[in-house]
Amino acid sequence: MQDTVEELLPETLLGFLTCPTPPAWVEEALRNQSLLLIDHAQCEKKAASTAMSLMYRYVDRPLLLTKMSQLAREELLHFEQVIKVMEARGITYCHLSASRYAEGLRRHVRTEDPWRLVDILIVGAFIEARSCERFACLIPHLDAELAKFYRSLVKSEGRHYEDYLVLARRYAGENGEGDIDTRIAFFADRERELIVSPDETFRFHSGMPMVA
Ligand SMILES: [Fe+2]
Ligand SMILES: [Fe+2]
Repeated sequence: MQDTVEELLPETLLGFLTCPTPPAWVEEALRNQSLLLIDHAQCEKKAASTAMSLMYRYVDRPLLLTKMSQLAREELLHFEQVIKVMEARGITYCHLSASRYAEGLRRHVRTEDPWRLVDILIVGAFIEARSCERFACLIPHLDAELAKFYRSLVKSEGRHYEDYLVLARRYAGENGEGDIDTRIAFFADRERELIVSPDETFRFHSGMPMVA
């Protein structure tokens, strides 16, 4: 059975993220597994809705429509799976405030297309890659049932990361934006800041837990 983060994750994904999840976050997550599952359910629902909003806005891009439709269906399936786990464990689904993470990345998205689309796709790639990495960090510490479920998610979120990146490169290329790597590096820096800086609110994508 694969058990280390390096074995669980594709090499390209590890290189894409510029810092690993801090061990303190993993410890906090293990102490707050109910909260983690509720926020995880929220993230799956939000991921489906982000994919669907791209399908509404960019109807003239067949590859994007196909990929986002597949992705939305998978995220909703993940949502159903998380709900099932929560129900079996007697965890009540309640409303939670959103983590600062996704908004902390999206606030840097340029407002004019085609750059807006390219930036949204890059942000999507980071959210998927970090989710994938966090599942891998948690797997060695979880009970067998949750570990098995999260192993399956590592595979699909890893694919979603690749899909977002392929789409970002494609549409940046089509629009003559040659320096997409600079833009990826810019978002990699923002992403690292959100992961390593102190964060008051524990969530699936939160930063360094603050010591009480
Ligand atoms: Fe998912
Ligand atoms: Fe995903």
